[in-house]
Amino acid sequence: MDFLKNVGYIDGQTQLVGIIGSPVAHSLSPEMHNAAFAHMGLNWRYVPLLVRPDQLAAALKGLAALNFRGVNVTVPHKVAAIQLMDSVTEAVMVAGAVNTIRIDGGSGRLEGMNTDMTGFLADLASHKIRINEGTRVIVLGAGGAARAIGAGLTRSGANVIFVNRTPERAAQLVEFLKASWSTGTLGMAHIADLPAISEGINLIVNATSVGVWPNVDETPWPENIPMPKSAIVYDTIYRPRHTLFMKQAEKAGLMAVGGIGMLTYQGAAAFEMWTRQKPPLEMMRMVCEQRLGD
Ligand code: ATR
Repeated sequence: MDFLKNVGYIDGQTQLVGIIGSPVAHSLSPEMHNAAFAHMGLNWRYVPLLVRPDQLAAALKGLAALNFRGVNVTVPHKVAAIQLMDSVTEAVMVAGAVNTIRIDGGSGRLEGMNTDMTGFLADLASHKIRINEGTRVIVLGAGGAARAIGAGLTRSGANVIFVNRTPERAAQLVEFLKASWSTGTLGMAHIADLPAISEGINLIVNATSVGVWPNVDETPWPENIPMPKSAIVYDTIYRPRHTLFMKQAEKAGLMAVGGIGMLTYQGAAAFEMWTRQKPPLEMMRMVCEQRLGD
């Protein structure tokens, strides 16, 4: 039975989780979670599941019927999944998206969650970046990532200014967050206003997709505008690990943080929701770092 040595050990007890999206082939999550399961000695497996938009409802029903324990949700299903859940956490309502589903083993009920906001806040804390009422932040972008990040910052009482290519989306996001939270101070500005609003900024977050592989020569921060000396720069992009936006910051003598930490924390949060075990955070981060290389 030597040939069985090369087969990952799967038996009648194996528990299944995965990621649904289209595409899913580039996802780092299968390696991150499977390494974590192996490390913890858990008989669980995480599989990529390509699901077309018109098949989302059928796929979710099927996952529950097949006794999957949960899934991560990625593009393009994060918003559409909300109405297919049996229950959602408050974070889902705030972020306007589901990125993790827990499936109840007995009833098959689908519980929608969002770990992006807590993942972002946990990663800031791990870098000793403190957010409080005096903190001044520029968030570049006004899409799904900006919404989760903006919610986390607003909840922490920060003063947040959104700058987006399409200003109407930034205005809508500000209105939404104002209606959701009484803490924080919110505003929006145009890219041309960056020099004027940069004074005293503590944190600049890239929540756009500008600079993501393969467009590694792009940056959301115009090259001709100096970055404020007081700021720490945070890029939610993790592919490449070292974005042009981060390089600009380092050239200006600023600290720059990439998106691997946020990716790891949101993955770790999902691991914990599914298995009820403390996630092996450091090794999950190492798997991502190794896979992404330099
Ligand atoms: P996500 O859920 O990852 O945030 P999204 O909702 O599509 O994805 O949002 C992508 C963000 O990146 C938006 O803020 C988008 O700006 P627009 O609202 O103007 O579309 C921003 N973005 C994407 N490509 C961009 C580009 N080439 N230049 C500037 N901003 C860009």
